[in-house]
Amino acid sequence: MAAEKTLLLILCVSVLLVSAAVGAKERCNPQDKKALLQLKKDLNNPYVLASWNPDEDCCTWYCVECDSKTNRIITFSIYLSVPEGKNFTAQIPNSIAGLPYLQTLELHHLPYLTGPLNPAIAKLTNLNFIRITRTNISGPVPAFLGQLKNLNFLDLSFNNLTGSIPPELAQLPKLETLHLDRNHLTGPIPPSFGSFKSNNPYVYLSHNNLSGPIPPSFLKLNFTTLDLSRNKLVGDASGLFGADKGTQTIDLSRNQFAFDLSKVKFPKTLIYLDLNHNKIYGEIPAQLTSLDLQFLNVSYNRLCGKIPVGGRLQDQDVYSYLHNKCLCGSPLPNNCTK
Ligand SMILES: *[C@@H]1O[C@H](CO)[C@@H](O)[C@H](O)[C@H]1NC(C)=O
Ligand SMILES: *[C@@H]1O[C@H](CO)[C@@H](O)[C@H](O)[C@H]1NC(C)=O
Ligand SMILES: *[C@@H]1O[C@H](CO)[C@@H](O)[C@H](O)[C@H]1NC(C)=O
Ligand SMILES: *[C@@H]1O[C@H](CO)[C@@H](O)[C@H](O)[C@H]1NC(C)=O
Ligand SMILES: *[C@@H]1O[C@H](CO)[C@@H](O)[C@H](O)[C@H]1NC(C)=O
Ligand SMILES: *[C@@H]1O[C@H](CO)[C@@H](O)[C@H](O)[C@H]1NC(C)=O
Repeated sequence: MAAEKTLLLILCVSVLLVSAAVGAKERCNPQDKKALLQLKKDLNNPYVLASWNPDEDCCTWYCVECDSKTNRIITFSIYLSVPEGKNFTAQIPNSIAGLPYLQTLELHHLPYLTGPLNPAIAKLTNLNFIRITRTNISGPVPAFLGQLKNLNFLDLSFNNLTGSIPPELAQLPKLETLHLDRNHLTGPIPPSFGSFKSNNPYVYLSHNNLSGPIPPSFLKLNFTTLDLSRNKLVGDASGLFGADKGTQTIDLSRNQFAFDLSKVKFPKTLIYLDLNHNKIYGEIPAQLTSLDLQFLNVSYNRLCGKIPVGGRLQDQDVYSYLHNKCLCGSPLPNNCTK
């Protein structure tokens, strides 16, 4: 017993010694520390990074993360719940390229972050997650993003970006989620977008000024979510649907799409369908009664005929059906005459 206790004591002491030694030894890579301090300086020493102490291990600093094996900086994330004010007045600096192991780059709620997306970002080829949202960055969505072959998630929503969508983005082999919504983008959806590599992409292009028809190859994609609402898109979007797809959410509202809804076969997985404010005609297909639709809005179109009875169709708000050419039946107040 005594021998066992001694052994246990030795074990505990050595664990303590080892952890003390690890604690003393800084994990942070010296090059990364240098790069981070330069980045902080180039961002005009923002308040949110004020706690960065050059005498401390940078792996313990606020807004960054080190890889558990290599100890290199893999995350730089300023994700604020409320907008940072003028304390953060800066552009994205060249020194961001000093963090070549970066996988996650996040800049959120920084209205005084201005200027373009810096081409230095193209050097960060390990990036798989970019979220630069609710800032005042402007200029185009740069084609150089197409060089970031590990990119899986790209969110540039709620900025001040202009110009057209670069076709290069569709070539990204691992991209699954793309948010370009709520900018001032113009021009068409590039035909190259039909060659999206992800099997079930999430694509959000709403609240821009995109125009023209949807490229036929893009219609064929098996989206999980597609939000094209509040653009100036035209033409036949019925090819987006299809009984064999796995799509859950489709929002085409406030465009100028024109097609016959009667002929559409909906994915069985569809739970959210917003078509309001288009020029869609025909009847509401009876197949919609077989879906578990949590949200439906077909108002402000040119639909006619009786709303099929069953499923979730009568659970929807009356406003989801108003302002069509000649729709009738529950939940609308007008009965069908024939
Ligand atoms: C701006 O910075 C000052 C200190 O320089 C600080 O007192 C203030 O809280 C900061 N404002 C915000 C919104 O962080
Ligand atoms: C955004 O940037 C533009 C100039 O590019 C400027 O006029 C505007 O005031 C900025 N908005 C904010 C919230 O800083
Ligand atoms: C976008 O930029 C324009 C001028 O460049 C500016 O007037 C506007 O305030 C900016 N928008 C936002 C959301 O900052
Ligand atoms: C779209 O363009 C119109 C002018 O044609 C402009 O008033 C509107 O602000 C633009 N919307 C967006 C989201 O850029
Ligand atoms: C679309 O994706 C879903 C989910 O992965 C899958 O079940 C379905 O078979 C796919 N359909 C087509 C046409 O590829
Ligand atoms: C459907 O869209 C119309 C038009 O935008 C809107 O007025 C109505 O509130 C929407 N219905 C629901 C249930 O959101």
